[in-house]
Amino acid sequence: MNRVKLLSEQVANQIAAGEVIERPVSVVKELVENAIDAQSTRITVEITGGGRTLIRVSDDGIGMSEGDALMSLERHATSKIQKTEDLAKISTMGFRGEAIPSIASVSRMTILTRERGDDVLEGCEISISGGKILSVKAAGAPAGTTIEVRNLFFNLPARRKFLKSEETERGHIQHYITLVAMAYPGLALTYIQDGKTIFQFPAGKADELESMRMKLLKERMRLLYGTGDDLIEVNNSIQYDSTPDEDISAGLPAQMVPLKLWGLIGAPGVSRSSRDRQHLFVNMRPVDNKGLNYALLDAYQNALMKGRYPVCCLFLVLDPSEVDVNIHPAKREVKFHKEAAIRRIVSRILRTALEDYSDPFKCNERKELLDESKPEQNTVQPPLDLPSKPEMKPVETNAPKVFEYRPYTQPLPFSPVRAKNDPIQTDRKTVYPGQYHVSSQAPEVECAEIRPEPVPLTNAPLLTVPLRFLGVLNKLYLLFESDRGLVLVDQHAAHERVLFERLMSQAEQGKAESQQLLLSETVELGMRDASLIREKLPVFHRLGIGLHEFGERTFLIDSLPSFIKGISAKKFILDLLDDLRAAGRELTQADMAEELIASHSCRLAVKANDIVNREEIDHLMDDLRHCRMPYTCPHGRPTIIEISQRDLEKKFRRVL
Ligand SMILES: Nc1ncnc2c1ncn2[C@@H]1O[C@H](COP(=O)(O)OP(=O)(O)O)[C@@H](O)[C@H]1O
Ligand SMILES: [Mg+2]
Repeated sequence: MNRVKLLSEQVANQIAAGEVIERPVSVVKELVENAIDAQSTRITVEITGGGRTLIRVSDDGIGMSEGDALMSLERHATSKIQKTEDLAKISTMGFRGEAIPSIASVSRMTILTRERGDDVLEGCEISISGGKILSVKAAGAPAGTTIEVRNLFFNLPARRKFLKSEETERGHIQHYITLVAMAYPGLALTYIQDGKTIFQFPAGKADELESMRMKLLKERMRLLYGTGDDLIEVNNSIQYDSTPDEDISAGLPAQMVPLKLWGLIGAPGVSRSSRDRQHLFVNMRPVDNKGLNYALLDAYQNALMKGRYPVCCLFLVLDPSEVDVNIHPAKREVKFHKEAAIRRIVSRILRTALEDYSDPFKCNERKELLDESKPEQNTVQPPLDLPSKPEMKPVETNAPKVFEYRPYTQPLPFSPVRAKNDPIQTDRKTVYPGQYHVSSQAPEVECAEIRPEPVPLTNAPLLTVPLRFLGVLNKLYLLFESDRGLVLVDQHAAHERVLFERLMSQAEQGKAESQQLLLSETVELGMRDASLIREKLPVFHRLGIGLHEFGERTFLIDSLPSFIKGISAKKFILDLLDDLRAAGRELTQADMAEELIASHSCRLAVKANDIVNREEIDHLMDDLRHCRMPYTCPHGRPTIIEISQRDLEKKFRRVL
């Protein structure tokens, strides 16, 4: 008896739906992606009951003929790819031809569509229930497509039971809509939830789009999240080496390919306790990629507290042939052909953006004027273990253009639709005129440090504005006045940062000061620990740790970095081993130096009640200004904060 039989089309579709359609937001995502691929300029998403009762996505895209609409219900039917080779360079959101039949098999679906074109007089309407076509009829419709999905999982009660509360499902959908709003500022996007319009983003103008992108993105971020966080612009185009390994060994010439990274990232000190506000896109697709997450954390290393995550909205634009998007049914994950290189490049670009922000000299474009006044320690080498320069070259004018995915054809100008008096919309500049400008009548107070010129930047980083010293609070906080309000510096955190960077720069240059121990000590380790340590010996030596093999599992310590005080050499090595083991992932030399120095610079830094005199304060502030990342201590705590005049006025009820 034959027991192996082919599954019916309907069951096969329901199985596929299990992978592609996890919950209501998956339906929204697939339908919106189809609308984007169909070159729509406006998309409206409507849901009720958290998407379980109804999801309706309407677009003004190219639409479908009746034949195409029927075909789209077949499994593996797509207009986006044809051949295997096409898989290697996908430039559309969809390509698997699975979404429509999957959704249709687990819901009651209606497709109303009309092809674009003057000669197309009418559209068609198809009703499907649980994968079965109920009716196909001619219907009047505007050009474009509207797909309605009712009663999701009505025929899969087990699946329906697993759905979370309406509120949770709504939250996921709303989050997805925000991602689309960020990625497609050119697209007019409306989101209606239970009859209420939640978002209405008008489109950006097509011809202005490229130059205005950053502005449009900022505008959308402001509408979505308000103006609470300081964000830094990132915009870099470079070329990197994507030669396949086998071609490298065959001695073939390097293949340089373009890469662009642009968007907004939180200034040092801006963070969240989860990845909620971390938005990463690869070729416009919101993605989850471990390498990129690490790159982001690497960039913020020692500017982020443990367990905190950066805030960002970043777009990585690569040639489609450099990314594999076909590794996840819902296309959430992507894989880069050169994972390690991409991670390093992204981290480096972001790190540079963070450092530029922190560098008042660069920031004010007055670098050349002040070069002489810069102490030597600031001429730091590139961080250890980072790729040597040739890997990253600025894109030359005749270099191939970075692939840009722009499916919408005629987006319109952007002007946020919101109530005029909506606080989120209010522009800081217009609300507090002059607040950020240096007043010419500023009182003549003796200054700890006054920068030679006023800095009329609305959002100038704190360390670039003139600060007048007022006093010390609690023997810890240095108080300053600026034209924007009150500024407090945590002496201890600031000193930690200064020490940390000094020691790091010594370690980077291989000049870590080392102190000979009076008595050498030996330490015996287990097999695994011994091999772990043996691997890292050269790194230890660079960091000034005199550790030597003294037998198979025995090591001799004869010197330690001179900044390490008050700890036995043996204990130091054992602690270091714990760190190494706990690190879990491949620790680079730079990581190790950072860990080590960050944990010890804390002990060396001035303690809360160390009394510091004026001269020392001036020095400290000066040193801090010359740090690469002055706004946080090496553990990511802030070194300097500001209480604006506005905040003070609010507290004293001078304004409401
Ligand atoms: N909103 C739409 N406008 C125009 N065509 C659409 C739309 N939605 C789906 N289609 C057509 O139906 C096909 C199948 O869609 P789908 O099942 O999502 O697969 P894929 O997007 O992977 O091609 C698409 O390739 C496209 O040609
Ligand atoms: Mg699709």
